[in-house]
Amino acid sequence: MAKSPSFICQSCGAAYTRWQGKCEACDGWNTLAQESIAAPIAGAKGAALRGARSAGRVFALEGLKGESLEAPRVASGIAELDRVTGGGFVPGSVILIGGDPGIGKSTLLTQACAALARLGNRVAYISGEEAVAQVRLRAERLGLTEAPVELAAETNVEDIIATLSEGAPPRLAVIDSIQTMWSSAVEAAPGTVTQVRGSAQSLIRFAKTTGTTVILVGHVTKDGQIAGPRVVEHMVDAVVSFEGDSGHHFRILRAVKNRFGPTDEIGVFEMTGHGLAEVANPSALFLAGRDLSAPGTAVFAGMEGTRPLLVEIQALVAPSSLGTPRRAVVGWDPSRLSMILAVLEARGGLKLGQHDVYLNVAGGLRINEPAADLAAAAALISSLAGAPLSPETVYFGEIGLSGAIRPVAQAPARLKEAGKLGFNRAIVPATLKDSPDASPLALESVGHIADLVATIAARRPQVARERRSLVTDR
Ligand code: TYD
Ligand code: MG
Repeated sequence: MAKSPSFICQSCGAAYTRWQGKCEACDGWNTLAQESIAAPIAGAKGAALRGARSAGRVFALEGLKGESLEAPRVASGIAELDRVTGGGFVPGSVILIGGDPGIGKSTLLTQACAALARLGNRVAYISGEEAVAQVRLRAERLGLTEAPVELAAETNVEDIIATLSEGAPPRLAVIDSIQTMWSSAVEAAPGTVTQVRGSAQSLIRFAKTTGTTVILVGHVTKDGQIAGPRVVEHMVDAVVSFEGDSGHHFRILRAVKNRFGPTDEIGVFEMTGHGLAEVANPSALFLAGRDLSAPGTAVFAGMEGTRPLLVEIQALVAPSSLGTPRRAVVGWDPSRLSMILAVLEARGGLKLGQHDVYLNVAGGLRINEPAADLAAAAALISSLAGAPLSPETVYFGEIGLSGAIRPVAQAPARLKEAGKLGFNRAIVPATLKDSPDASPLALESVGHIADLVATIAARRPQVARERRSLVTDR
């Protein structure tokens, strides 16, 4: 086979004939590396090969209607993990799991392997990063040394496939990590995009032919992308990311893509001294340690997939000494904050141009829902006015550019969760998309952002009076 030298972008897989500083496909800088890729077979031999194929095979076309089978599943028994995969692993599927180093990917997968192995399944854990002794040490710490998991430290894909093909195919094979794998069929250095893609292809073929569920661990780059070719993400059946803040103990498993299940589900874990523990009631965790009397905090009744989740949104609005005031946000979209601030100024009559604004989602969670607008606005107004909000109230609603509060989906589930956690009042949009039959909370609707400003500002004289009496007493 003829080989032509080529430069391949290590982040998106685009190929170039010359080196250049910037990849035009993904706009990455300094991502091209020289690799050799197989050129199409040229000359008489190639033409003969192509000629032989040109007739083509006729295959049957079918309609959309027909008998379809529900994908069978292998549940691991770890409820938070099964929720994210959509009820268990689908035989023959390939899952890519990404996450920062040290977040707990190997720990989670060791626990999943042990759980499946204890149920009597053949399970293999192939580590390309750690020696067998290191993996054993972790298993010891997790108290899982008795589980019949087959363990190896290997990096050659052909060897791995040959070993796993012996005897009955395993139910689950974990490859930790795909970046350390190399295939002798691919002529490129280990770790390069071509190797990663080639190895992934072989492992996916193995999964499809044997019905083994293969989990590939992928590294994440600085900006949160799964390193190596994005093409691996396209090749696999499911992509899940394992997120968390190194300063916090809990971790969130989130499905980014799933051919066999929902993509907006999350699983919540807590990293303990003995591995990852499931968190069945995450709202209680995210609301723990709340300061009930401080201004600038509001509780948002959110949804993650089908699961309601209550989180505290904290805001700090303080006079600025800078020409251009600071705007900083953790756990929320910065452009969304700019929009809410603009609406508060233009439609709510607030003056924020001379104030620094900080917004934080407590506990290290990331919120993507527009429904959090109302809670964020309430926290901002409360901080500016110095008026604490009632600690037994939850907020949800989307804010439009006109200042109108727009309805959001799944109101009954949000209210039910808030009721369960002891909240008694909810500030909601004037119209609810699906209004609950009987709300466990007193509902108070706001139609416009100006109404919210007025309600919260009305709390101020009362708070100020309490403060003044404190000062004169002293
Ligand atoms: P690890 O699973 O090795 O992370 P990854 O594979 O994503 O790189 O987990 C590493 C971290 O988890 C490490 O900093 C130690 C911590 N840890 C615990 O806190 N408790 C435990 O029981 C285990 C096994 C690890
Ligand atoms: Mg690891």
